[in-house]
Amino acid sequence: MNKQKTKSKNIMDSMVVTGIALAAFYWVCESFMYFFLEPEANIIQHVLGPDKFQTWTRLLVLCIFVIFGSHFQYAFNKRRLADEALLQSEEKYRTILESIEEGYFEIDLDGNLTFFNDPLCKILGYSRNEMQGMSTRAFSTEDTIKKFDDIFEHLKNTGEPVNVTDYDAIRKNGKHVALELSASQLKNSEGRTIGIRGVLRDVSERKQAEEERRKLENQLQWAQKMESIGTLAGGIAHDFNNILMGIQGNASLILLKIDPSHPGYEKAKNIEKYVESGTELSKQLLGYARRGKYHMKATDLNDIIENSATLFGRTKKEIQIHKRLAEDIWTVEVDRGQIDQVLLNLYVNAWQAMPEGGDLYLETENIVLDHNFVKPYEVEPGNYVKISVADTGVGIDKENQERIFEPFFTTKEMGRGTGLGLASVYGIIKNHGGYINVYSEKDQGTIFTIYLPASEKDVDEAEALAVTILKGTGTVLLVDDEEMIIDVGKELLNELGYDVLFAKSGAEAIEVYKQKHKTIDLVIMDMIMPGIIGGEAYDRLKEINPDVKVLLSSGYSLNGQATHILRRGCNGFIQKPFNIKQLSYSIHNIIGKR
Ligand SMILES: Nc1ncnc2c1ncn2[C@@H]1O[C@H](COP(=O)(O)OP(=O)(O)OP(=O)(O)O)[C@@H](O)[C@H]1O
Ligand SMILES: [Mg+2]
Repeated sequence: MNKQKTKSKNIMDSMVVTGIALAAFYWVCESFMYFFLEPEANIIQHVLGPDKFQTWTRLLVLCIFVIFGSHFQYAFNKRRLADEALLQSEEKYRTILESIEEGYFEIDLDGNLTFFNDPLCKILGYSRNEMQGMSTRAFSTEDTIKKFDDIFEHLKNTGEPVNVTDYDAIRKNGKHVALELSASQLKNSEGRTIGIRGVLRDVSERKQAEEERRKLENQLQWAQKMESIGTLAGGIAHDFNNILMGIQGNASLILLKIDPSHPGYEKAKNIEKYVESGTELSKQLLGYARRGKYHMKATDLNDIIENSATLFGRTKKEIQIHKRLAEDIWTVEVDRGQIDQVLLNLYVNAWQAMPEGGDLYLETENIVLDHNFVKPYEVEPGNYVKISVADTGVGIDKENQERIFEPFFTTKEMGRGTGLGLASVYGIIKNHGGYINVYSEKDQGTIFTIYLPASEKDVDEAEALAVTILKGTGTVLLVDDEEMIIDVGKELLNELGYDVLFAKSGAEAIEVYKQKHKTIDLVIMDMIMPGIIGGEAYDRLKEINPDVKVLLSSGYSLNGQATHILRRGCNGFIQKPFNIKQLSYSIHNIIGKR
């Protein structure tokens, strides 16, 4: 405020001083003039004028000079102040323009830069000199040039400002930068359009973050979809296995009772074969449904790959198999049967993708995955064993790549593929705490990469499988809510030499066991039953007899629930459908060694 007052006072002072100075100058000049024109006049007459009229005229002119001088100074001051204000405001706006992050520019009607701020140079990576007069086309992509032409057109037609959210530009180093543009008309003082002014924002980081978020959301949605289809697939596989159990049991019984020369013998053998294919199918479904893993064993993956590749190579001579297996590979804890299933599915797919033959590359490697790497896959960072299965086949296009892990997605003709192969691969690997991804180029080939968490344990030795039927003696209590399973199970157990009691529910099993536990050697119990389920029934049986021997059976593979029961002391698990050999082996393992 004070500053303002002093300023106005200065202005006033300078106006008065100029007026007086001008008037004094005039007075002195006139006095000198009289000094020469009227030499006879005295000094007073020289200074005041020779007569009264002269004196008054001089006073009048003096006043006019004071007024004129003041006015001149006033106009001059005003102009100077306006210039100063203009300079200040220009300085202010320049500071604002240079301190913002956005790039500001003005271009003429030919698209050449006429004015811009330093942030624009920073965004585009050019120096100020290089950008002087540069055409916007120099840093625009084909697509952006077209957009810019549209903006020109729009501004010309409507005069309304335009916002463009995806404006792609090319930096001096050739890299693309994602920008947002707000543009409006640039007019001269007569209101004529002389170009465009605009603000460019670098939104690359935001776009990248958005892209990552979108990817994560898609992944989550995809995982949820897979999860719910998995539940459905698991349910179907469970019921399917129970039906297969009935068929398998009956076929086993027929085969036991008839001679190989009997005309029905081959037919019953065929039924067993069909049951086997059915079991394969439900195995895939269960693999996908992630219904547990059983027989987890610390394993050397190189051994599994060697064995499976040798077996596969023997049957598919047109495929050249190349192996590069890392030495000192870390141990992984896996269900060997399931990993075999994973590899076989990948080999078969590769073979089908190379109808004319080709190369199959199998590789293993120890790898440490950090937090950033595993983030999108919902797995823990740490030590992993990486397996790659690569082929030189037809490849998978981008669209199909997004769907290949979905159950029942197949591009193969009817009868050739069910679309469950990769779905089960996905489920099994997920269930082992690992993950799988795919990289493929159309007509170039496909690489599947699997990561399985490494384990600290030493490798377990392989287990011998039953080769013959092992008969035995004793009494077995068979518990299942399916009539068909009871019927067929009873007969199978009789054939194996056991006496059979049965119960159709958990409650009935507890009742029977209460009365006859002294004579019962083994309980074979279904996991899922209405009312009291297997787990609860097991605990009640254990209350009656802490040494009770129980073999759990289920149409599901060994899942979390069954694992809990096994941990509580339950003696074994058998998955339906089982044949008489597998059943005899499982029973023998529990009560045969008495
Ligand atoms: N190595 C590969 N090369 C080219 N395409 C592949 C490859 N592996 C999988 N695919 C594509 O993914 C689809 C799904 O594979 P998936 O193994 O799940 O089912 P499928 O092989 O069609 O049937 P199934 O395995 O049940 O017999 C295949 O139909 C095929 O189009
Ligand atoms: Mg397949």
